Amino acid sequence: MTILPQLPAPTWFVGCGNMGSAIIDGWRLAGIDLSQVVVIRPSGTPIAGVRTVSSFAEAGAPPKLVVLAFKPQKLDEVAPQLKPWLTGRATIVSILAGAEVASLRARFAGAGAIVRAMPNLPIAIRRGVTALYSTDANDAQKQQLGDLFVALGWAMWTVDEGKLAAIGAVAGAGPAYVARFVDALAKAGEARGLSRETAATIALETVLGTSWMAATTGEAMDSVVKRVASPNGTTEAGLAVLDRKLDELVGETIGAAARRGAALAADAKAGPLAESASLH
Ligand SMILES: NC(=O)c1ccc[n+]([C@@H]2O[C@H](COP(=O)([O-])OP(=O)(O)OC[C@H]3O[C@@H](n4cnc5c(N)ncnc54)[C@H](OP(=O)(O)O)[C@@H]3O)[C@@H](O)[C@H]2O)c1
Repeated sequence: MTILPQLPAPTWFVGCGNMGSAIIDGWRLAGIDLSQVVVIRPSGTPIAGVRTVSSFAEAGAPPKLVVLAFKPQKLDEVAPQLKPWLTGRATIVSILAGAEVASLRARFAGAGAIVRAMPNLPIAIRRGVTALYSTDANDAQKQQLGDLFVALGWAMWTVDEGKLAAIGAVAGAGPAYVARFVDALAKAGEARGLSRETAATIALETVLGTSWMAATTGEAMDSVVKRVASPNGTTEAGLAVLDRKLDELVGETIGAAARRGAALAADAKAGPLAESASLH
């Protein structure tokens, strides 16, 4: 019998749109008990199997775990509302892109451990990637949170906040890039006379089959390429075009995402510093 990881009770989700819902969907699929979860979101839009409210005052007992799942730009709006409900026993897990631990600690001085998690969307089906980082979670907390994110796919603790940002730029945003690549393959199929439906299906199945094969056999991508592309054949002719542009394009794409992450981090740093500066 597998022992399922348990959520601290109560667990609050502050904000629960795409990503918060994906975490809850993944935990529900994993069979994790959600009965002590409370979602606080302004719209109050219900989520199956969890209590949803539209204000902190309705949330009930103070949380032991708080998942911050709103947009980073909302941090200075939400933090003063949430802070009064936090005790030293409340662990904070923030999935906010860019908002660094020091910026979060500046807003939630009296809270317990602060953990940053950078998940990606496939956590909803338990095939996600999550990077975790904390400077003050103890071993037991790291074990418990690690188990909860392992239930959503592949998860790892990083010892360097910069690596968390790097994983966010590649894996956090990655599903959008992969989706665009699948679409580009499908469009090329359509341009060669396939119906939209057939082109979309074969593009998706090709990406899925290739990833699945490599993930299950451990085969290196270079070896996959060699097994498909025979010398002077059709694939090699295609690769001669792709190889000229792809690495550069992906590098530039990830670079732009990383720069935006750095800008969000700078904004999050500026908030409380600007406030305290104005007090002096
Ligand atoms: N999307 C991704 O793939 C991804 C990957 C990694 C990390 N992230 C991070 O995840 C976070 C959420 O992104 P998302 O894509 O899930 O955004 P989203 O779908 O727009 O959801 C944002 C949520 O924040 C809630 N919210 C807005 N104002 C609030 C307030 N004042 N107090 C409490 N909640 C409030 C919204 O409430 P309503 O539902 O009531 O409108 C909504 O549930 C971001 O910080 C992002 O950096 C996202």
